Amino acid sequence: MATWDLSQTSHHVLICNGGSCSRKDADAVTLAIREEITAHGADDRIHTTRTQCNGRCEDACVVTVYPQGVWYKEITPDIGKAIVREHLIGGNPLTSRAVYGYADGVFTPTGHGAPGVLKTEAARRKAKQ
Ligand code: FES
Repeated sequence: MATWDLSQTSHHVLICNGGSCSRKDADAVTLAIREEITAHGADDRIHTTRTQCNGRCEDACVVTVYPQGVWYKEITPDIGKAIVREHLIGGNPLTSRAVYGYADGVFTPTGHGAPGVLKTEAARRKAKQ
């Protein structure tokens, strides 16, 4: 158990460790991301959390980065390290693996991910308009 002081934290990285992502090396992805953060001396700036299913299993292994709201798909340990170097340290999201960005109050598909299913009938009706 830990209670971290997050006052120097600039990014929160959620690493899905749900069932589908675990079958795609989520544990190794988690360890690789954390090792790369430590290697860059960035443990005070970048906080990571293992999560249960994020609801995007076709994209396994899923990693999300906040506050930018970027959702990444098919993350391997090497790609996870690249997210640390290029997005979290360098400030440039990996566009080839990003399936959603965040703009104007909503998540915006990049076209790289599975379309997915809208959650409610009302949302499906709205999408048809
Ligand atoms: S198990 Fe990772 S998105 Fe479902």
